[in-house]
Amino acid sequence: MDKFLNVALPKGRLGEKVYSMFENAGYDCPAIREGGRKLIFENKEKKVRYFWVKPSDVAIYVERGAADIGVAGKDILLEYEPDVYELLDLDIGKCRMAIAAKKDFRDDPGRTLRVATKFTNITQNYYAGKGRDIDIIHLNGSIEIAPILGLSDVISDIVETGTTLKENDLEVVETIVPISARLIANRASYKFKYKEITSLTAAVADQKEQKKV
Ligand code: PRP
Repeated sequence: MDKFLNVALPKGRLGEKVYSMFENAGYDCPAIREGGRKLIFENKEKKVRYFWVKPSDVAIYVERGAADIGVAGKDILLEYEPDVYELLDLDIGKCRMAIAAKKDFRDDPGRTLRVATKFTNITQNYYAGKGRDIDIIHLNGSIEIAPILGLSDVISDIVETGTTLKENDLEVVETIVPISARLIANRASYKFKYKEITSLTAAVADQKEQKKV
């Protein structure tokens, strides 16, 4: 008998796209489309249970086994390094992690660089790799304001369309890494629900390939 699959989806625009991919892959759950404030939905026939969680929390649910699988941005995986399997690049939610600064910014390698970011770990690893001393200023959002107000020299943040940078007179100085949404799995679930997880992964991968044509 097939086992139920618990799937953590990132709440928001990316999650809607992800659910459509899963739906087209045969893992539909019509109740999800009804709207409202409900967060958990299941399709008993398809043996799938979806729940909406904050995008940055998906990896926690999956790592701890509250969800068997989920979809998380590569930024979250690089930042928190959860102990999960990364099964598939979904090729959606594409953006990049980059260093940006005011247009007139000139780096002085003799001085400690002040970097404002939500992504402390990624940023520290990046500058450690370059052997550059930095002072991390951890912020929770609206990072673009930091260099404008003199709180930092540069920022390390997600750039998607580039509009936020442009409208705040900032520009990309260097790209750290490209980002996209990844299908991840809990390590134990992958063993015990191997058939269910690999079937879903293959169906979603097919769906992704069909979209490309
Ligand atoms: C993200 C990111 C940038 C913006 C980039 O912010 O931190 O601010 O999107 O997108 P763009 O290049 O298309 O303009 P988010 O909306 O997640 O808000 P927050 O970081 O301020 O919380």
